[in-house]
Order: sequence, then C-alpha cells, then structure tokens
Amino acid sequence: HHHVDNATVEKVEAAISAGDTHAHIPDYETYEKYKNSDGYAALLTLRNDGKWEDVQALIKESGLRGLGGAGFPSGTKWGFVRGNAGPRYLAVNGDEGEPGTFKDRYYLERAPHLFLEGMLIAAWAVEADRCYIYMRDEYPAVLDILRREITALEAAGLVAEGYIELRRGAGAYICGEESAMIESIEGKRGLPRHRPPYVAQVGLFGQPTLVHNVETLHWIARICREGPEVLNTTEKNGRKGLRSYSVSGRVAKPGVHLLPAGSTITDVIEAAGGMAQGHVFKAYQPGGPSSGLLPASIDDVPLDFDTLQPLGSFIGSAAVVVLSDQDSAKAAALNMLRFFEDESCGQCTPCRVGCEKAVKLMQADTWDQPLLEELCVAMGDASICGLGQAAPNPIRMVIKHFSNEV
Ligand code: NAI
Ligand code: SF4
Repeated sequence: HHHVDNATVEKVEAAISAGDTHAHIPDYETYEKYKNSDGYAALLTLRNDGKWEDVQALIKESGLRGLGGAGFPSGTKWGFVRGNAGPRYLAVNGDEGEPGTFKDRYYLERAPHLFLEGMLIAAWAVEADRCYIYMRDEYPAVLDILRREITALEAAGLVAEGYIELRRGAGAYICGEESAMIESIEGKRGLPRHRPPYVAQVGLFGQPTLVHNVETLHWIARICREGPEVLNTTEKNGRKGLRSYSVSGRVAKPGVHLLPAGSTITDVIEAAGGMAQGHVFKAYQPGGPSSGLLPASIDDVPLDFDTLQPLGSFIGSAAVVVLSDQDSAKAAALNMLRFFEDESCGQCTPCRVGCEKAVKLMQADTWDQPLLEELCVAMGDASICGLGQAAPNPIRMVIKHFSNEV
C-alpha cells in the first residue's frame, strides 16, 4: 500500500550500504559496561557446570510467562523443546508490531546485553545449534546496537562467529506470528502455519525450535543473575510479578512503566502522570487492538494474564492505549479493523474477507449488529491464526460497552 519513488529507494540503499542508517543511537549499556557489572558470569557458570533442569526450575519458580503476549509458561516451553531430538534452534521474536507496544525496543535500546545473555542462556538450555534474531526493520537504532554488540560477543569469544544471526523483518505485522516468522526466516512469504505441530516440535527448517520474545529473554537473564525473587516477590491485588506496560494515548507521560502485575488501569494512568491536560478518561485498549476496548467504568481489574478473560479481553503484550472524552470508541474500533484488514495475510477466507466486510459494515452510521455478530462468530471460529480469531474483539466490545455510539 505504500509507494516510495525510486530516487528515495536508491538514496536509502546507498546510505544502508555505507553503514549510515541515520539512526540515533541512544546511550546504552555496552559489552564493556555490562561485563564490568558481572555480565555473562551467569552464562559462563552455567556453561561450565550447570544443569539445564536447575535453571528451568528457577524460571518456573519465578513464574515467568511469555511476554510476547500469550503468557505461556517459559520453563514449560524449554521442556517441550528439549523433548524433541536435535538439531534444535532458537528464534527470537523481535517483530514487535502490536500497535501501542514498544517495551522490547525500550529494553533493547538500554540494556541489550541482558537480552543477549538471556538468549544465550536459553540457547544453552535447549542446546540450540544457532540463534536467529528476527528484528523489525522499523527499529534502526536497535539493529545498529545489536550488530555492534553481537560483534563484541564474537570478539570476546563468547559465541562462535555466525552463531547469532540477525534477520531484518520487512514491516509485515503477520510476521510476528511465530510460525509466519519462521517461514520468513526460511526465506519464504510469512504465512502462519496450522498447528499442531507446534514450533517446539516442527519449527525452523523442520527442527524443534524455541521461540521467545525479547522481553522474556531479558527476564531470563535477570532471574539467573538476581534469583527468582526479581519476579515472584511483588504482590498486588492477588497477582504476583511485574509487567512492562507500554502506555500511550491521552496520558501526560506516555512511555514504558514497570509496575506490579496486579495494577489496574487507575494505577497505570497514575504512573503515566495522569490524564493529559483537558482530557477526561473514557476508554482503554488493555493489550493491543485484538484486546478490544474497555470502558473507564471497569477500573478495578488487575491488568494481568487471565484476569481479563471474563471480559472477553486479554492483556497480551500490555500495550495500554488510553482514550478520552475527545475520542470515539466507534472510530477507534473501525481503525483497529482497518489495521487487521491491511495486515491480514489473506491465506484464509474468514479473515481476509471477514475483515474487509467488517470494515464496510462498521462505516455505517448505525451498525447492523446481528450481521456483525454473525460475522464475528465465523471469523473467530474459522480463522487459522490469532489475527483473524481475535479481530472481532473490538467489534464485540464496542457493541457491549459503547452501544450508544453504534
Ligand atoms: P499461543 O498461546 O497459541 O502460543 C504461545 C506460545 O506457546 C507459542 O510459542 C506456542 O508455540 C507455545 N505453545 C502453546 N501451546 C503449546 C503446546 N501445546 N505445545 C508446545 N508449545 C505450545 O499464542 P500465540 O498465538 O503465539 O500469541 C498470541 C498473542 O500474541 C496474543 O495474546 C497477542 O497479545 C500477542 N501479540 C503480540 C504482538 C507483539 O508485538 N508483541 C503482536 C501481535 C500479537
Ligand atoms: Fe492469514 Fe488472517 Fe488467516 Fe491468520 S487468520 S492465516 S492473518 S488470513
């Protein structure tokens, strides 16, 4: 959908081949700095005489769950991957494409070596032959940092040359779906695969593959360095642990806020400096567009894994977008479905045609609710991957909570 003229393409390609991506490189923790604060001591100790089961037990004790958004228990995943004969691979999902999510970028631009050490610990645990980092190209500073720091790791002898392969995504949202990402790394078009088999069994190049999100690996390093207490001691509203909320929208201080996992939207807005001046809190997207929209009146639910299920929602990657009295819930939902229509890979009919049809129906002054609801059922039941399955959520939630607008 995006048209760029040839001159611009040539200019950009010339800049890239000259190594000049014009990325502003923030002041991050380099290999030298990280090493001086005990960096890679945990990895080296484990490689020397560690047992992977002990680390798995530590991860389980911490309660760490996959922070790409699905919350699958990380230690359990290691067991699945190890249960299949090698060669095995590790693939890092750095295709942070969920609208409103920017926590992976936040950590990578500050502490890339926590991520890299976590990755190498996970690779050691599943005896991965190679690590692939799939990083979105929209993060040029991150790509620059990773290029430099992977080279530093090779120079320091921590990894063999070429053991870590950095791959650039090309801007397709669907390539963040793990099996589509694997197709993309294999050099094919990023189409999600049917599952089972899960990638833990049949992943990259047909081999068992451990897929972790960037932030999950960040915490794996921290758990190994600081102990499981780093995650399992904070308690709030009956929930344990911490969440990195990416907060944006009508708040005074948008950004990443690390808060107890039991935080409510009230806590999140407060951490983000309150509402922006002149705005009254109206609604929020708790975790990406597929989590839909909740009204401001639901303000006492912990924004954590599992807790939003009764509301037909989920926390996902904790991308909180705050809307105010100056925003329309109907317009927001339409925008979300336009996004899904644009990003649908087109492989299956319920999603490809369903998103397009939904957008048309949602443009009407008054929604044909019975028809939209029927469409939602077909999309949810019959789509291959999470994109089409969850795309109806904004529609359902606007009908439920903002019926006056539609
Ligand atoms: P999922 O629950 O199906 O899978 C999560 C992970 O657990 C995957 O790695 C999967 O392979 C593994 N898994 C699940 N059951 C398994 C089993 N029985 N055996 C072996 N492995 C198993 O969820 P999915 O579809 O991978 O992710 C959906 C989430 O992604 C959504 O909740 C959404 O929030 C999030 N998302 C995040 C984005 C981001 O930019 N961070 C972008 C879009 C979606
Ligand atoms: Fe592609 Fe949508 Fe089907 Fe997923 S649900 S495989 S994005 S068409």
